[in-house]
Amino acid sequence: MTSYTLRNASPAKTKADAVVVGVLQGADGPELADGGEEVAKTYGRKLRPLLSTLGVSGKAGEVVKVPTGGAVATPLLVLVGLGKEATPADVRRGAGAAARAVTNAASVALALPAATPELVRAVVEGYRLGGYTFTTYKKDAKDPKQGTPADVVVLTPAARRKEVTTALEEAQVVADAVVATRDWVNTPPGDLRPPAFADAVVAATKAATKGRGAPKIEVTVHDEASLAELGCGGILGVGAGSDAPPRLVELTYSPRGAKHHLALVGKGITFDSGGLSIKPAQNMHEMKSDMAGAAAVVQATLAIAALGLPIRVSTFAPMAENMVSGSATRPGDVLRIYGGTTVEILNTDAEGRLVLADALVRATERQPDTILDVATLTGHMVVALGDKVSGVMGSEDVVRDVLDAAVAAGEDFWPMPIPEHMRERITSSKIADLAQHDWIRWGGGLYAAAFLREFTAGLSWAHLDIAGPSFASGGPSGHVTSGGTGVAVATLVDYARSLVAKS
Ligand code: BES
Ligand code: MN
Ligand code: ZN
Repeated sequence: MTSYTLRNASPAKTKADAVVVGVLQGADGPELADGGEEVAKTYGRKLRPLLSTLGVSGKAGEVVKVPTGGAVATPLLVLVGLGKEATPADVRRGAGAAARAVTNAASVALALPAATPELVRAVVEGYRLGGYTFTTYKKDAKDPKQGTPADVVVLTPAARRKEVTTALEEAQVVADAVVATRDWVNTPPGDLRPPAFADAVVAATKAATKGRGAPKIEVTVHDEASLAELGCGGILGVGAGSDAPPRLVELTYSPRGAKHHLALVGKGITFDSGGLSIKPAQNMHEMKSDMAGAAAVVQATLAIAALGLPIRVSTFAPMAENMVSGSATRPGDVLRIYGGTTVEILNTDAEGRLVLADALVRATERQPDTILDVATLTGHMVVALGDKVSGVMGSEDVVRDVLDAAVAAGEDFWPMPIPEHMRERITSSKIADLAQHDWIRWGGGLYAAAFLREFTAGLSWAHLDIAGPSFASGGPSGHVTSGGTGVAVATLVDYARSLVAKS
């Protein structure tokens, strides 16, 4: 485990195996960013020609390693580009890229812009998340402690300010939750089928509630018998083709003095083959990430509790494996969602909305002030927004607050509409209350949102479609590593913080 500490010290005089310094894209060429002044002073007039010979521009994402030969106290300077302004988002990305550039250092000092709580948070989250690896299944994996530094010192002029020490602690809580989400998403689907996933959530909750001063969180697991008794036809219907039975996990965090009640719902399809409306073979393996929404809402709940935020949180994680077999749900079948609404199945690959429907109705029964659902719901959203931006739809004020929270969290979300004419489409079934799908390709992400809205009982609600950003198919970039990204965790925590600030 890496320990993070704050210190008000000169980076030029800091004895660490590596010191990370930011470089800005200045108007007249590259210049060292806030926090790096002492290093700049030590190099004096030699710095500008050195940076130019190294080809350093300060462009965001750039990383250049410089052996110092004793010019400053550290043997290695790591220069990271922070763009033109070094915003918290730039700093988070830069710190993430730096974490991967430093290998086998026992101690690292981060001399990045860190004068405010927001920047300290960005430095810590960025460094911790950018250095993330998933090596559980590697034969030759190094001891995970090797390679990652034991000590990371964040150099900041505000090391003694209470808000800054708090920011350091809170950033670690959020980063840990993102890391745990990534681990679940990266786990092979055969090793994280619904019963195993539910067990993992129970174990994580137990661990989070153990010890003195730990928060209280209740956890309930509904197995297939309990789901049948409740009448959760969506979850059961989607899970019907798998020999691993579905689950619904419910968490409740109910701190004293809570003024707001937030319900979180996350899609937990542990593998999405498409069912009988089977997916093409290419990239089907990535559908192990179809439980990223459930992982995110669970970990966000644990983080909110660990931070002791005074809001009540009720969390619902419906889990099923969407498979092909003689017992699988067929196109043409009608499922009865919890609460009685019937749905005609027209494409078994549109399964997320079915498990979410049961869970959303369960959530409304608790009469929360707000509901947020998080789901890898549609490829349409990826077509519309690309693979790095999530869509947000729903009640206008909730959407606005989620977008604000996303900015604070350094995640990219964008608002999408639920046009009124979608209602005609979702009610077009001739034999059931709702049509799950209609074979009109256009606006499929909005159709899905309109469908989910039917199960929110008119409560304040927003739907976060994270289909693109939940899994990085390519290489790492900034603090976002390959594979599961843990997207939405930080935004949910910041959304909860904004509720506290308002109440
Ligand atoms: N899990 C997928 C959505 C998805 C696509 C997630 C790409 C991540 C990356 C979802 O269950 C699905 O298959 N959606 C269908 C819906 C359609 C049949 C209406 C889709 O997007 O094609
Ligand atoms: Mn699907
Ligand atoms: Zn799916």
